[in-house]
Amino acid sequence: MCGIAGYIGYRDAYPIIIKGLQRLEYRGYDSAGILLYNNDVIISKTKGKVSDLEELMNSGVSKEGNIGFGHTRWATHGIPNDINSHPHTSNSGNLVIIHNGIIENYDSIKKELIKRGYTFQSDTDTEVLVNLIEEVKKENKCKLGKAVQIALNQVIGAYAIAVFDKTKPNELVVARLGSPIAIGIGKENKEFFIASDASPFLEYTKNAIYLEDEEMAIIRENKDIEIRKINDDSIITPEIQQLKMNLEQIEKGGYDHFMLKEIYEQPHAITDTYRGRLNANSGIIRMSGVDDNIDKFLNADRIIIVACGTSWHAGLVAEYLFEDLARVPVEVEYASEFRYRNPIINPNDVIITISQSGETADTLAAIKLAKEKGAFVFGICNVVGSSIAREAHAGAYTHAGPEIGVASTKAFTTQITLLTLIALKLGKAKGNLSTAKYHNYLQEMEQIPKKVAALLTPETDAIVKYIASVYKDASNCLYLGRGYNFPVALEGALKLKEISYIHAEGYPAAEMKHGPIALIDENMPVFVIATKKGHYEKIVSNIQEIKARSGKIIAIVTEGDTEVKKIADHVIEIPETEEALTPLLTTIPLQLLSYHIAVMLNKNVDQPRNLAKAVTVE
Ligand code: AGP
Repeated sequence: MCGIAGYIGYRDAYPIIIKGLQRLEYRGYDSAGILLYNNDVIISKTKGKVSDLEELMNSGVSKEGNIGFGHTRWATHGIPNDINSHPHTSNSGNLVIIHNGIIENYDSIKKELIKRGYTFQSDTDTEVLVNLIEEVKKENKCKLGKAVQIALNQVIGAYAIAVFDKTKPNELVVARLGSPIAIGIGKENKEFFIASDASPFLEYTKNAIYLEDEEMAIIRENKDIEIRKINDDSIITPEIQQLKMNLEQIEKGGYDHFMLKEIYEQPHAITDTYRGRLNANSGIIRMSGVDDNIDKFLNADRIIIVACGTSWHAGLVAEYLFEDLARVPVEVEYASEFRYRNPIINPNDVIITISQSGETADTLAAIKLAKEKGAFVFGICNVVGSSIAREAHAGAYTHAGPEIGVASTKAFTTQITLLTLIALKLGKAKGNLSTAKYHNYLQEMEQIPKKVAALLTPETDAIVKYIASVYKDASNCLYLGRGYNFPVALEGALKLKEISYIHAEGYPAAEMKHGPIALIDENMPVFVIATKKGHYEKIVSNIQEIKARSGKIIAIVTEGDTEVKKIADHVIEIPETEEALTPLLTTIPLQLLSYHIAVMLNKNVDQPRNLAKAVTVE
């Protein structure tokens, strides 16, 4: 969480930093702040969004300077207010810091610093860290880089930091452990950019270095970057990566919200996920991360899928896929529970982790644990070069393109696409799928983007919008599905909760009788996934049970359905496909529904309260 953007070079730093913070706002938007240096330090910070910071800067604050950094915060220690906003300054006023992460032992360090005469303005762990660096610098009479290094060896926690020293105003020191830092390299080393991801500097350079955990960099104008290991001081020769992302991908492109744009991007995103991997005509699924480790997959005693949130829901869909198509036992785990449960992991287990951002702290920690226990870890990520992508033994990217809306949409469907390819590949290799069935799946998979596009027409949108207008004031909603569509019910409920703040629960439809049915009355909208293939008769009975209790039924049905239509209050039709592929279609109207309800309720769709896109703290 939290976004960091900085610049050192010959251009005005302010516009680069402000624009960068706007692009990083998905990482947190509790407060924003900036440091600029132009013969003296200028710091402005405020509770609220980057737009509030801009307003503050427009009230007469100097925007001059060719060096500086900014921060957009997701609060961990200390409530979101002006004082707790970053940057934070050391007691002497010389050192300034921005920080993404948590310093766990800040309290004991703070007590020690107080004994030595330090005072604190904020409740943050970050202000403790900048004063620790100051104290170390004073004690050791060393330069900023060394002081940062010594101080970081004393802290426990996670961080991406940028530090500036007013007495040496032509350098920035950055460091990472657990939270990402990318460094953009301008022409001839005349300028450098720092950021939590590459989006703030895409228009300036495509050359970037991603710091690894426990690395720090000293960045000086017109000089080479010096990268060191924080714990043993060894010098690192960085790998410069060529960025493939472009600006268009991270802008709204005419849509009102990123979430809507990302919903509509799904036909393309799904195609991009299987492009170059799936060839339905020749019956080949090629995925180097799987191909290179095929023995591990084929000999796995079980597959353990570890993820959080929406990615965990994609993992649940994969449980059905792997067990059904490839006949491998699967367990799906919340990363946060898995890592602290002392789980039984055997060398013959394959761990698949799923993460859009590739930075989720619990998922990352789960990978490290699984590796320690000798398991093979396969990472599915969207963000190229992310921590999880680098930490896993092997993996595959979803290639969904940047997902900026906090509510995950195209990440979910592309994760399922990728997991379906793996399940089909294993099913074929293990002889569990007949050639005819396998080929049929491949052909059908290639039709999915068209079928998703068919759900993103003005006609379907109008139906969904109307349903949204009828139920937008509900206080509670139930989402029901069976089999492959039970995880879709969970995902539908999560989407509604997170952006419209309406309480919603997802359930396996048959579980309704074991409790939730007590909630059903004429005020309860129940969204039921009732597609033809997949326990249809059973679902119809569940719908009858809701009807008998006067619940309102909104059903997602297969095109041409007549039975459910007779009993449901509203239906949304989806094109027919194989049961295993239905989640890729049934999800779409539920995403749209949440979107429209949130817009009608005037909620901040792309930046829902209390959330952040990348949860880099546990
Ligand atoms: C999804 O809409 C959520 N915002 C959230 O549950 C998210 O899926 C979760 O935090 C996991 O993120 P990741 O995929 O980046 O690891």
